[in-house]
Amino acid sequence: MSLILHSPLDMHLHLRDEKMLENIAQASAHTFAGGLIMPNLVPPITSKEEVVAYKQRILKAIGKEQFTPYMTLFFKSDYDKAFLESVSEEITAIKLYPAGITTNSEGGVSGFDIEALRGTLETMSELGIPLCIHGETNGFVMDREAEFVSIYEKLASAFPKLKIIMEHITTKESVEALDRFENLYATITAHHLMITLDDVAGGMLRPHLFCKPIAKRPEDREALRKAALSAHPKVMFGSDSAPHPQHAKESCGCAAGVFTAPIALQILAELFEKEAASQEKLQAFICGNAEKIYGIKAQPKKVVLEKKPFKVPQRYNGVVPMYAEEEISYSIKEVHSGQ
Ligand code: NCD
Ligand code: ZN
Repeated sequence: MSLILHSPLDMHLHLRDEKMLENIAQASAHTFAGGLIMPNLVPPITSKEEVVAYKQRILKAIGKEQFTPYMTLFFKSDYDKAFLESVSEEITAIKLYPAGITTNSEGGVSGFDIEALRGTLETMSELGIPLCIHGETNGFVMDREAEFVSIYEKLASAFPKLKIIMEHITTKESVEALDRFENLYATITAHHLMITLDDVAGGMLRPHLFCKPIAKRPEDREALRKAALSAHPKVMFGSDSAPHPQHAKESCGCAAGVFTAPIALQILAELFEKEAASQEKLQAFICGNAEKIYGIKAQPKKVVLEKKPFKVPQRYNGVVPMYAEEEISYSIKEVHSGQ
C-alpha cells in the first residue's frame, strides 16, 4: 500500500550552521519541498546580510535537492521601518523568543510590554510580515505555555491585522485560543502528537525526547491530535526538528530539541492511518494549510510512502533521531522533484 504526499512543508525547522548544517540539511531537503528556517543561530540572524548569507549556506548544504528555505529573522523590538521594508523581500516571517526560554534565545524579549513592542509590530502588520512566537513564560515548566496564552491574546487584539503563529503548541489551552482570535494560527510538531511527559520522564529518562516546550498531558496530546487530524485550517505542520550533537543530548545538562526530520512524514502517515484520518487531511496539514496561512506556493515534489516496516537508524551523521533503532510502519519509497 502506498501513500502519495505532495510538496510537504515543514513550517518550523532548525537547520543550524557549519558542520551540523552540512550533516542534517539533506534529511529535510530530501522529503520536504520547503521549510521555515529558524534564526536562533549563535549569534542570531538579525540583519539582511545575515539572512541572505545563511540562505546561501543552506542552499549549498542541500546540494541537488529541490527545497525552498523560507527564511526568518530573530525578533528585536528596535527594528525600524526602513530596515523592515528592506529585509521584507528576503524573509517569510520574524520569530520572537522570550529571553532565555530555549536554545540560543538569550537575545530575546524580556517582559511583554506591548508599548515597547508596538513600533516593530505595527510595521510588521503594515508590511504583512507574520510573527512567529515561542510562547512560554518563565513559570513552572508544565504551565509555561498555558500561562502564555494571555500574552497571545493581548498581542492578537492589540494588532488585529498581524498574523501571529503560536509555534509548536503543546496544550489544549493553545488549541482553544485558535478559535477565539481570527489572527492566531499554530504549528504542531510530530513528536508532540506522539508523546506525553510520561514518554520523556515516566520511566528511564529519555534525553532524545526532551525538548522545549516539554511534552504535556494525555488530554493535551488529544487536543493537538484533534486539531491536526481534522486539519484545522489554522494549524500546520512544523517539525521543530532541532538536532544537537549526541554528546550534548546524552550528558549531564541535556540540550533541548528532538531530531525528527528523517522520520517526520513516516510517523505522521502512521498516525493518520491509525486514527482513520483521511489522506486529504494529512495533505492539508502538511502543505495546503501552510500555503494559505503564509500565502506561499510550495514547489512541486511528490513523496511516495509505503506501508513497509522501517528500522530507524541509530544515528544520522552523528545525530540521534527520534525512535532511533525502533521500527516504524511506513517508509519513504520514492521522491520526485519537479512537475
Ligand atoms: C530548539 C533548538 O534546539 O533550537 N529546541 C527545542 O527544544 N525545541 C529551540 C526551540 O524551538 O525551542
Ligand atoms: Zn524550534
